[in-house]
Amino acid sequence: MSLSRKPCWILLSLLASRGIADLGTSIKACQSLFSTLSGHVSFARDQVYEDSISSYAYIGTRLRPTCVVTPQSTEDVAVIIRVLNSFNSVAFAIRSGGHNTNEGFADIKDGVTIDLSAMNKIVLNRADNTVSVGPGARWQSVYDALDPYSISVQGGRNGHVGVGGFLLGGGIGFFSPERGWACDGVVNFEVVLSSGIIVNANATYNTDLFIALKGGLNNFGIVTRFDLETYKQGPMWGGVIIYPNSTDDELLDTLSAFKDPERFDPYAMLTFGWIYDTKTQIFSSNIAMYHSHPESVNGSISESFANVQPQVFSSIRTGSPGSFAGEKLSPIVKEYYMHWATTTFYASRTTLSNMHASFRRNAIALTELFASANLTIACSIQSVPAAAPASNPNSLGFQPSSQPEKTLLNMGIAFQYEDSAATAGLAAATERFAREIDQIAVQDKVKDNHLYLNYAGGWQDVFEGYGAESLETMRRVSRKYDSSGMFQNQVKGGFKLYR
Ligand SMILES: Cc1cc2nc3c(=O)[nH]c(=O)nc-3n(C[C@H](O)[C@H](O)[C@H](O)COP(=O)(O)OP(=O)(O)OC[C@H]3O[C@@H](n4cnc5c(N)ncnc54)[C@H](O)[C@@H]3O)c2cc1C
Ligand SMILES: *[C@@H]1O[C@H](CO)[C@@H](O)[C@H](O)[C@H]1NC(C)=O
Ligand SMILES: *[C@@H]1O[C@H](CO)[C@@H](O)[C@H](O)[C@H]1NC(C)=O
Ligand SMILES: *[C@@H]1O[C@H](CO)[C@@H](O)[C@H](O)[C@H]1NC(C)=O
Ligand SMILES: *[C@@H]1O[C@H](CO)[C@@H](O)[C@H](O)[C@H]1NC(C)=O
Repeated sequence: MSLSRKPCWILLSLLASRGIADLGTSIKACQSLFSTLSGHVSFARDQVYEDSISSYAYIGTRLRPTCVVTPQSTEDVAVIIRVLNSFNSVAFAIRSGGHNTNEGFADIKDGVTIDLSAMNKIVLNRADNTVSVGPGARWQSVYDALDPYSISVQGGRNGHVGVGGFLLGGGIGFFSPERGWACDGVVNFEVVLSSGIIVNANATYNTDLFIALKGGLNNFGIVTRFDLETYKQGPMWGGVIIYPNSTDDELLDTLSAFKDPERFDPYAMLTFGWIYDTKTQIFSSNIAMYHSHPESVNGSISESFANVQPQVFSSIRTGSPGSFAGEKLSPIVKEYYMHWATTTFYASRTTLSNMHASFRRNAIALTELFASANLTIACSIQSVPAAAPASNPNSLGFQPSSQPEKTLLNMGIAFQYEDSAATAGLAAATERFAREIDQIAVQDKVKDNHLYLNYAGGWQDVFEGYGAESLETMRRVSRKYDSSGMFQNQVKGGFKLYR
């Protein structure tokens, strides 16, 4: 313990001895963690603590816990879990890259935050075509390790995003139309269970846990290592294009053509977006698209997006996966508040127009009240990834034969702003808008019940969207591997198995 920490430490001990209800128990748990793992427990005003809090991507998720624990190894995580087991009224949060937008999912007030950022090791196993990745790694470092060998993995498209939450929530990556959800590329999870025991979950050991973790988030244990399948991947074609609003109709026509099942291209990844800035009152559209086989882009539907004119900006080129992931680092350099929500629907030109009209109406209606908060509203639309094959299932609830990559679209709704005073109003406005979009899908008879976990608002019932069978299986797995219910009761954040 450093000398400079002492005053704070004494104060905490005083508070604890006065038994200030829950806070007192959290402090005792932190003291106990401190005496077992001293170098890696920090408190308010410690540099490590403050750095951890300020490294969450969005300001609204920077809740301040009683202490932050920063394990360096799987064994450290096991020790932490055993200590927290003996303080079963103390709530804790699990955090990897800190990019989930929901308050309290990877952060907590007056409890313990387990910050896995330091567990970011990447080990390439060329002999069996896998790479072992720590939960705290960022996708940029994973691509940077793989690009030189012209191999890749199913990972994130924004290099700043963390490996842990992304993979446990499903994961949509550059190759999802062909290879499915990123979690389907996991060949093994190393997990610390609530008993403090370290296990592997893979296709031959703890198979039920293996499946549950693919979409089950933080409900079963703390994942301390992901072993991912690697495969050959040279340069890709793609980038970002921003269009002015004069292209609105042509873009929706092109998007509809892109979703024509007859024209399905398994190598083409596309995210299509509308954005409105309440400050400038400018509407624009944008796409981020990638094609894993650049030699077959000529004449493809992807290319037709590149041909829509005029364009405000284009970065279309060929480059490595890592160079594309890196392109997206900049938007989050500035700090924002953020609310997300999501929905899923069958592609239909009419529905896209109806949703666009709703987007414009809502955007304009919010301008007067929230322009001073620097609100921007965005909808991003992309294909749902290919379903997992029956031979390698996940928990997400898509039937193996359903081909969602050809028919279904996912919409992510994002409200971004800078004024904390607008939080209550904009959280409510996000939810209202998402419900209106859902209602359009219902009216047009194109609604699908899935909700993509990693884009969902905390109020959305993601696991219900997986279907009753998947939810029941996850509950059974939870009773088997977490019989004390630690990950249901002490881990408050995230979507839980019982609501
Ligand atoms: C700018 C940006 C770009 C994005 N791009 C994409 C994209 O291309 N594709 C896509 O699918 N998603 C994308 N997302 C969404 C992203 O998948 C989620 O935000 C995800 O939660 C990020 O993971 P993380 O590790 O950073 O999250 P965190 O906020 O650290 O964690 C999220 C949740 O996972 C749990 N968790 C994390 N690690 C573990 C662990 N090791 N064990 C148990 N539980 C754990 C946490 O408790 C928490 O509930 C993007 C998000 C942002 C902000
Ligand atoms: C699956 O887990 C077992 C038991 O820990 C381990 O021996 C095996 O190597 C794992 N398989 C993979 C693919 O990691
Ligand atoms: C496009 O934007 C301009 C300026 O922002 C606006 O005047 C015009 O009405 C918009 N057109 C459409 C079709 O939305
Ligand atoms: C693309 O196709 C056109 C004909 O459709 C051909 O003229 C052109 O050379 C092709 N470009 C490349 C880069 O292959
Ligand atoms: C909105 O943006 C302007 C210009 O960037 C900035 O000066 C102002 O402080 C921002 N407003 C808020 C509430 O942060």
